[in-house]
Amino acid sequence: MKKVIVHSPASVANIVCGFDIMGFSIEDPYDKLVMTLTDKKGVTIINKDNYGLPEEPSANVIGSALLAMLAEVKEDVGFLVESTKVIKPGSGIGSSAASAAGAVVGANHLLKNCFSKKDLVRFAMSGEEVASGARHADNIAPCIYGGVTLIRSCGELDIVSIPAPELFITILHPQIEVKTSEARKVLKSDITLKDATKQWANVAGLVAGFLQNDYDLIGRSLEDVVAEPARSIFIPAFYEVKEACMKAGALGGGISGSGPSVFMFSKDQPTAENVRWAMQEVYRKKNIEFNIYVTTINKQGIRLSEN
Ligand code: HSE
Repeated sequence: MKKVIVHSPASVANIVCGFDIMGFSIEDPYDKLVMTLTDKKGVTIINKDNYGLPEEPSANVIGSALLAMLAEVKEDVGFLVESTKVIKPGSGIGSSAASAAGAVVGANHLLKNCFSKKDLVRFAMSGEEVASGARHADNIAPCIYGGVTLIRSCGELDIVSIPAPELFITILHPQIEVKTSEARKVLKSDITLKDATKQWANVAGLVAGFLQNDYDLIGRSLEDVVAEPARSIFIPAFYEVKEACMKAGALGGGISGSGPSVFMFSKDQPTAENVRWAMQEVYRKKNIEFNIYVTTINKQGIRLSEN
C-alpha cells in the first residue's frame, strides 16, 4: 500500500492590494491529510475532524480536485483520503485551498510526480471552485509553490514566485464564518479609473518592495481601494484593529483573503507580538471569540512525509 502524509499550510490571498492575483503561504496553521493509493478509480474521503464537511467527492474540495486529476490519469487508480482540518472553513486563511492543493500534491507523489506544479494548480482550482464559486488560485498557488506568489494569469496559467524579505505575520481570526462566495457578491463589478490607477500603483509598489527588501515601501503599498471598502463590514471592529496594529508598529496589513481574518506584516518577531497584544486588546472589549497566530512566510509550501 502506498501512503503519504501531507501537511498543507494556510495562506493569505490578495496581500491587500492584489485581489485574486497574489498570495503567500504561512508556517502555521496547517491541515493534515493521510492519502493512500488504491487500485479502484475514484476517491473516498474520511473526515477526521468535527467540521461536518461533505464526504461525497463531487461536493468536497478534496474530491473535486482529485476527480479533475483522475480524469487525466489513464490507469485504474484512486485515492483514499483521511482529512484532519485545523484551518477552520470560512476563516479567510485558505482553508479550502489547503485541502485541494494538499490533496493534489499528495496524489501526485503517489503517482510518481507525473504532473507539473502548474497542472496541480489547475486541478486544485476545481476544488476551490466548489468552495467559492470562482476559479481563483491566489491561495492554491502559494500552497503549491511556497512563498509569495503572483498569478499573472488564471486562464492560461502564468505563476511567478516573488522573492521577499523576512516578514513576521500576525493573524487575527474572529470566530465567525464569512463564506468567500458571499464576500465576492458584495464586490462592485466596475471600478473607477482613479481607483484602478491607485490599485495597480500599490501592486507594483508591493512587488518592488518585496524585491528590494524595502519594508517601508511594502507598508505604504498595503492599501486596497477595491475589496476592503466593501468587505470590511463583515469584520467586527476592522478599522479599530487596523489602527491599533499600526500604532503597535505593524508595517501594514488588511483583510486576509475574503475575511474574516485580518493579517498584519511586521519587520521582526517582537513587533509581531506587540501587534498580537494590540489585536487582543480591541477584541477582548468586543466580546467576540478569536484566535491569533504569529507566524512567518512558508517558503516551501506543502510538505510530504511517508510516516
Ligand atoms: N481572492 C479571493 C477573494 C481569495 O478575495 O475572494 C479568497 O480566499
